[in-house]
Amino acid sequence: MSVNLQEKTFPSSATLLSLALLTLWSIQPTRAQDNTNNNCISLASSKACPAFEQYYVGFPGLASRYSYLANVTNLDSFDQSLFAHVQSTNDYLLPLGCSSSSKESAPYARYSLSRLCAGLIQDVTDSLPCNFQHNLTPPPLCKATCDDWISSVDMITNNNDVCSGDTTQRNSTILDLQNQCSSWQGYNGTDSEGCIAGQVNEPNNCGMC
Ligand SMILES: *[C@@H]1O[C@H](CO)[C@@H](O)[C@H](O)[C@H]1NC(C)=O
Ligand SMILES: *[C@@H]1O[C@H](CO)[C@@H](O)[C@H](O)[C@H]1NC(C)=O
Ligand SMILES: *[C@@H]1O[C@H](CO)[C@@H](O)[C@H](O)[C@H]1NC(C)=O
Repeated sequence: MSVNLQEKTFPSSATLLSLALLTLWSIQPTRAQDNTNNNCISLASSKACPAFEQYYVGFPGLASRYSYLANVTNLDSFDQSLFAHVQSTNDYLLPLGCSSSSKESAPYARYSLSRLCAGLIQDVTDSLPCNFQHNLTPPPLCKATCDDWISSVDMITNNNDVCSGDTTQRNSTILDLQNQCSSWQGYNGTDSEGCIAGQVNEPNNCGMC
């Protein structure tokens, strides 16, 4: 009896497994279509991350972990997603528990794009392996750039119109973000390590400074 049950269960789970594998096989080539080199998107001629153009970001891995990257399939959709994200309230206003007078957009905090580019390129799970495959070790963002971003966020949100009421969450999140600039290897770069400065990535976009 139990043998019979097993014999019945086995083929059906094997069928499920083959179905799952078939689905994966059919999804994989479509998603990877625009990505040369094994799901790594090259940033060559990126508009959002021009200072990082020799490096790579790993997709579809990043898309599955960050909802604002959900529809990224190539460099163009990557750039568009970054531009949209830094202008949305999701980048820093929501995490700080603040809101904007315009519900959909936030003031551009200085070097937001540069920080986002560095964070994604330095992603240990999905992007660093892509860069290592190409024998590249991307340099970190300069700590000074990370600090400039935080100062800008601090300045924008130290304002009752943007952040009113209880500012406990704002203040503790700003402290966390400041700590990241000192202690995360992707954001705490120094000149002697050849760190990438926001000014190089965004020479014409001072933001709120
Ligand atoms: C991704 O595409 C879906 C379907 O078109 C859409 O509903 C969703 O808003 C898009 N997500 C982003 C982050 O653009
Ligand atoms: C948060 O920081 C601001 C500016 O430094 C300060 O005015 C405010 O009292 C702080 N809020 C809390 C809850 O400590
Ligand atoms: C940057 O952070 C890493 C990881 O915490 C640390 O090992 C390194 O010493 C830091 N670099 C600087 C210049 O502080």
